Amino acid sequence: MIIAVDGPAASGKGTIARALARHYGLPNMDTGLLYRAVAATVRHMALDPTIEADAVAACDFDEELLADPTLRDDETGQMASIVSAHPLVRASLLQRQRRFAAQPGGAVLDGRDIGTVIAPDADAKLFVRATPQIRARRRHAELQANGSVLSFDKVLADIRARDLRDSGRASAPLVQAVDAATLDTSFLSIEASIQRAIEIVTEQTGQKFVTG
Ligand code: CDP
Repeated sequence: MIIAVDGPAASGKGTIARALARHYGLPNMDTGLLYRAVAATVRHMALDPTIEADAVAACDFDEELLADPTLRDDETGQMASIVSAHPLVRASLLQRQRRFAAQPGGAVLDGRDIGTVIAPDADAKLFVRATPQIRARRRHAELQANGSVLSFDKVLADIRARDLRDSGRASAPLVQAVDAATLDTSFLSIEASIQRAIEIVTEQTGQKFVTG
């Protein structure tokens, strides 16, 4: 079974995707990390993220980088959204994501274009939403826990900037697949969001993949 989980920054899609992977015993790929690794490599190599050829050169990043916790910082997220707008960067990371999705038994992938581009035939598709304020509050708390001193207002401005960039780009913009179910986590606890996600997958797959 392939499960596609898409949505904007800090909507809760990563937590939901990890929980679905655990529940169904499937491997999980956080595809945002790939774009974050490209962004970090651009920075290490002192390249220009706005130049497509520079960003493409960074797609051949070191695998070990994917385990680096600094990939999760806000600055890397912003730069990831710049490099990810280049069509050749997306093309360069496409096969890797499709191979992961196509492994025997299936997989859970989360990102921006999983249900639309990477796995349009996924068995289940979720589009996770929450208001910008609530997403900023969550991201702010997460960043603070990791020692960041960014203000709430800066985090909210960054989230809005990233939403605009991710939705406005020509190549694989952040849009909900027509056959994806919306899961609004604005007023749901993590547990309730996960429960609802499992219900959606069950509804979409018609009990084909029930687990114990
Ligand atoms: O966790 P958060 O939602 O903040 O970010 P992420 O999922 O790690 O993604 C970082 C950036 O990578 C996003 O702002 C997107 O621009 C880009 N991205 C993308 O274009 N396509 C994906 N499938 C995943 C991420």
